[in-house]
Amino acid sequence: MANATAGTVSLNLPGMHAGARDMVRLGMVRSRVCCYRARRQGLVMCAALSGNTNEDAVLGDVVSKPRRFPRVVGMGSKLIGCGSAVPKLEITNDDLSKIVETSDEWISVRTGIRKRRVLTGEESVQGLAIDAGKKALEMAQVAPEEVDIVVLCTSTPNDLFGSGSQVSTAIGCKNAWAFDATAACSGFLVGLITATGFIKGGCAQNVLVIGADCLSRYVDWTDRGTCILFGDAAGAVLVQATAAEEDGFLGFDIHSDGQGYRHLNAKSCGGVEEVLSSTNGSLNFPPKKPAFSFIQMNGKEVFRFAVRCVPQSIEASLEEAGLTSSDINWLLLHQANWRIIDAVATRLHIPSEKIISNLANYGNTSAASIPLALDEAVRCGQVKGGDIIAASGFGAGLTWGSAIMRWQ
Ligand code: ACO
Repeated sequence: MANATAGTVSLNLPGMHAGARDMVRLGMVRSRVCCYRARRQGLVMCAALSGNTNEDAVLGDVVSKPRRFPRVVGMGSKLIGCGSAVPKLEITNDDLSKIVETSDEWISVRTGIRKRRVLTGEESVQGLAIDAGKKALEMAQVAPEEVDIVVLCTSTPNDLFGSGSQVSTAIGCKNAWAFDATAACSGFLVGLITATGFIKGGCAQNVLVIGADCLSRYVDWTDRGTCILFGDAAGAVLVQATAAEEDGFLGFDIHSDGQGYRHLNAKSCGGVEEVLSSTNGSLNFPPKKPAFSFIQMNGKEVFRFAVRCVPQSIEASLEEAGLTSSDINWLLLHQANWRIIDAVATRLHIPSEKIISNLANYGNTSAASIPLALDEAVRCGQVKGGDIIAASGFGAGLTWGSAIMRWQ
């Protein structure tokens, strides 16, 4: 119900659809922009409603649609569904020992990884992202048409221009806009924090965040220092707006530092420097077909960075949430190396029973690793409604961040 008093309107929340209905009743939907204050919740509501006219048509039957709901600033956000997908082909450590000089013992002792999945044949990272996204919507019981934004967190899209929009359309999110977020192994955290920002800024009710990567396509399978680490996968969560007092996204912390770029990268080849050095200082035109180099990593430096920065980041997120490490039910880190996970847990005084990890089965799946591990933990009953999770991603960039959130 809406009460209009002297130019202000307050709404009962949650239920922004009801809010939109009230606006129709108040005759506000005809105005192109309207802003008002929802005093009861202390929320600011702004609605930019465009008329759906033929002028909006862009291409054939593709049209710009009006906003589905009024803008409500200061809502809470919560995770209400998750899903994941992995390729069929499993590669064990013993399989790898047939192509590079390594052993199951070396890999499992140094990393905790025993096997990984790798894309083959008709499979694609886009296909995995679509499967994972659909499963997250199914669990959340949210129809694809109800999704406002799809964030595809990937550093390995099918298309240089991004795959988010194709993934969104294939899932059936016909009212959503979509984009790709590139931040390697921190990608999912970046997507999650972006999603909750959009929701709390009043721009979205339902945001589907998908982490999907196929680093198997970018590793040098003759380099035993990197090829043993990575696998392919996708994981997704549905983040939904909720009343401020039910907020399940309790704190976050996020960083990047380009100085650490040299320790972990997969550079584009044929850049200006490379061209100049190969042509004695004269620029060649037209340029050659671009390509990317294999992943280059200084494992020891990345390891040191992770065990130093991840605990600091989680502590900062916990502080924002007004919690301590003893309040969390689960520690869910990017699945890169068991020794990193163990060192972070030790620094935060979190017992091993509270660690979620499926690293042994999938290796480092980059932006997919956190939602993939979350999905398995939720579906097997490990994570239950109300549980508080401290999640943290870290990797190329360098980038790192964390979030404290409540499951459902
Ligand atoms: N099998 C057998 N021996 C190996 C292998 C292998 N697969 N790889 C390296 N070695 C050898 C080395 O050649 C070296 O031999 P040497 O002593 O004769 O010179 C020895 O093992 C030790 O090598 P290190 O590289 O020092 O081994 P380390 O203990 O550092 O482990 C590892 C390497 C597993 C890569 C570790 O450094 C690590 O996990 N780092 C973090 C990587 C990471 O987390 N990346 C995440 C981000 S990914 C992203 O964002 C895309």
